[in-house]
Amino acid sequence: MRFLIFGAGALGSLFGGLLSQRHEVMLVGRRVHMEAIRRNGLKIGGRTNLVVHPTAQEDIAEVESLDVVVLTVKAYDTEGALEALKPFWRKAAFLSLQNGLGNEDLLAERADRVLGGVTNQGVTFVAPGEVYHAGIGDTYIGPYRGTGLEEAAELVEAFSMCGIPSELSEDIRGELWLKTLVNACINPLTGLLEVKNGHILQSTFLTDVVREIVDEGLQVAALQGLHLDREEVLEKVWSIAEATADNISSMLQDLEKGRRTEIDSINGAIVERGREGGVSCPINSLLTNLVKALEEASPAI
Ligand code: PAF
Repeated sequence: MRFLIFGAGALGSLFGGLLSQRHEVMLVGRRVHMEAIRRNGLKIGGRTNLVVHPTAQEDIAEVESLDVVVLTVKAYDTEGALEALKPFWRKAAFLSLQNGLGNEDLLAERADRVLGGVTNQGVTFVAPGEVYHAGIGDTYIGPYRGTGLEEAAELVEAFSMCGIPSELSEDIRGELWLKTLVNACINPLTGLLEVKNGHILQSTFLTDVVREIVDEGLQVAALQGLHLDREEVLEKVWSIAEATADNISSMLQDLEKGRRTEIDSINGAIVERGREGGVSCPINSLLTNLVKALEEASPAI
């Protein structure tokens, strides 16, 4: 298959790098990272130990045909990415592996064939040309709009054959909510406290906050017709925090680099959807405001 990984930072580089072992892969990402990959290949350390040589570009100017666009840009860049990818709206399947709520809907407003994706892989950016695979997590793929189970299953097979443990999901909307609740717990707490993911499990103060974040989130999910099991959600938070214990969450990575975070599409999106349905979410709202205050204090944003 021919893959375009659009937004090849830490996560996109891991997926593109692994897929390039058996498929044609083009990474599109920041110039310094792409230049380093063109020069020396992409080095993946940690749970994966590999140097691969996918094509690496700063834009899609030279891409003529492809089968799948894998979107790994930050949630707040989805609209801009979609404009750049306009030539493929009718030609390729689009798979989002992004954090947060609302990405797939934006894709489905433009592209004909959209798949939803959720991944719990933990990856950290080390330096241009190098990423660190801190934790192996499952990836779920399912049809979202204009696609079917068969198309999703082909991708699951392609991913799995390249060492990306993946499963077909018949309820990708439920998986997206589940993952958003996991991110809503792990990302702001690790970002605000400047700790690795595993730290969440070591403090009863934090495990109490996690329960409150989840309880609010479950009420909002229910407004959208999704009735998730509380114990299953909490179990997921604990297991992902454990599997990625050594990982610096994407939100902490963003804050450390003085970059904007994805808080608006994670906790912020829960608060917003809750407000629309008359459910208030004070804990998620507080976390959103605290992370935004930290962003504001950063000179780079
Ligand atoms: O955003 C992240 O960092 C990741 O989604 C996860 C799974 C929490 C691992 O760090």
